[in-house]
Amino acid sequence: MHRTETANVLVIGTGAAGWRAAIAATQAGVQAHLLAKRAPLDAHTVLASGGINAALGTRDPEDSWEQHFADTVREGYFLGDPRTVEIMARESPAAVQELADWGCEFARTPDGELDQRFFGAHRWRRTCYAGDYTGRAIQGTVAAKGAELGIRVDEGQYVSRLLVADGTCFGALAFDLRTGERTVHLADAVILATGGHTRIWRRSSSRRDENYGDGMHLALDAGCRLMDMELVQFHPTGMVFPEEAAGTLVTEAVRGEGGRLTNALGEPFMERYDPVRLELSSRDRVALANYTEIAEGRGGPHGGVFLDISHRSRDYITEKLPRMYRQFIEWQMLDISREPMEVAPTAHYTMGGIVVDPETHATDIGGLYAAGECVGGLHGANRLGGNSLGEALIAGRRTGEAAAAFALEGEVFTRSRRAIDDGLADLDALTRPGPELARPLQRRLRDLMWEQCGVVRSEIGLREGIREVVALREAAANVDVRPGAEGWTDLAQALDLRAGLVAAEATLRCAIERRETRGAQIRADFPDLDPALQVNFYVDARMEPWSQLVPPVPPELREWTERPVELGAGGLLE
Ligand code: FUM
Repeated sequence: MHRTETANVLVIGTGAAGWRAAIAATQAGVQAHLLAKRAPLDAHTVLASGGINAALGTRDPEDSWEQHFADTVREGYFLGDPRTVEIMARESPAAVQELADWGCEFARTPDGELDQRFFGAHRWRRTCYAGDYTGRAIQGTVAAKGAELGIRVDEGQYVSRLLVADGTCFGALAFDLRTGERTVHLADAVILATGGHTRIWRRSSSRRDENYGDGMHLALDAGCRLMDMELVQFHPTGMVFPEEAAGTLVTEAVRGEGGRLTNALGEPFMERYDPVRLELSSRDRVALANYTEIAEGRGGPHGGVFLDISHRSRDYITEKLPRMYRQFIEWQMLDISREPMEVAPTAHYTMGGIVVDPETHATDIGGLYAAGECVGGLHGANRLGGNSLGEALIAGRRTGEAAAAFALEGEVFTRSRRAIDDGLADLDALTRPGPELARPLQRRLRDLMWEQCGVVRSEIGLREGIREVVALREAAANVDVRPGAEGWTDLAQALDLRAGLVAAEATLRCAIERRETRGAQIRADFPDLDPALQVNFYVDARMEPWSQLVPPVPPELREWTERPVELGAGGLLE
């Protein structure tokens, strides 16, 4: 038994990218319908803290979109698609202004302009912010705009499969997390805005039931390619205790506001890793610096290094970093205006993902689009903090417009009874008793990704990781799934596990192929950057990666990126 719903554009995911896509589709004159697992105001976007980048030049009038482009390309170690980066850098100022016009309460300078703070590895101050809850402010703004436009959103819906026939996507199959009721969503176009896969690492800045790579799995299953899956950003500063909070983000804005890193010996160690930019170095370098200090025995009692902002006044901290202030009080009863925080790297952002066209965000499958963290192409081997929120909004708008155009221009839309029946049969096959539980298997997956595919990797470990994934896949085929008093969470966990195993395998296989150290891919057995590997690695459902050269930077922008740069991992590997 199932229900059937129809929409012109079905959007899966209600973070900033999903909402912005639905808004654009609605404004283009079609009916958009959003599906959310969580409450629409509680999508992962709310965890984005420190800010959103736009070359507005409020604080530093020398800034320009070209410089934002150059910083993004260069700090991504030249693996980002230049056209994708250009779109993000050119369109960010308008995207931020639009949010402000819709009522987003960004911090302002005394004369009323949008304020901008420092973030790591940006040449100028270009990160607009709302305290350290910028993502929450943006999420509230786009959700309110969506409500004003009357966009339908259904929460508690888990999408198990995209419906595809003849190379075209015509909808998705979802079930209700509380009742198990199944719905076949028929749509002229579908947008994935499903986030990343960083919850499959032991330490992660994602919450328990999000970011298992479900969008990547749905896309692969539908026939799409993924790219750059090995390029996973470890944020340098996550909480280290208590265990329930370990991995929770400690925003880069702490360093942007002057926070200093020291080890257990009291040494300000960033001088050894990036003597010029220090704490405002790029994330890959600061993460490796923190990792190295800890690995070499200079960590604190909970296995972290120390981040200190206590030279700022309590008033300053509660104005600029209110969430951090509360977070440490709540979890550790620690007053960060008096004492340092103990922090360590945490899996934070999927820089690769579904392959899309830079202009329209069309995937390899007709009628299927993707936006936000589930997509690859923008960040290359190291994402600049603050670029993801801009990406979500700009890609969301473009995706919504393109999907709406597809819906409006289509003459006849494919539907397939067999595809629907296959999707329903897949859910039936999963819903049965078995000897395994999903949660312990998820834990094993997180442990193996942390041990074998963490901040520093090697071929031996990555190959061991694949062996463990294969073993886990066998166990996952026997997971116990039955509805209970808690609803249908068993089934969601089984699906999260299945998606996580697919995303993990893609990550491990691409990480093996990238035999070099570049940005977030740090290989102990290949400690140098290899210029011949200025390529993107691609993978499809066959899981046999191949590479392709990154498109060239256009001549008119080349000089911006050709200024002297410092590349290489430094620290541990030197
Ligand atoms: O540290 C942060 O506030 C994170 C920002 C980002 O990932 O863009």
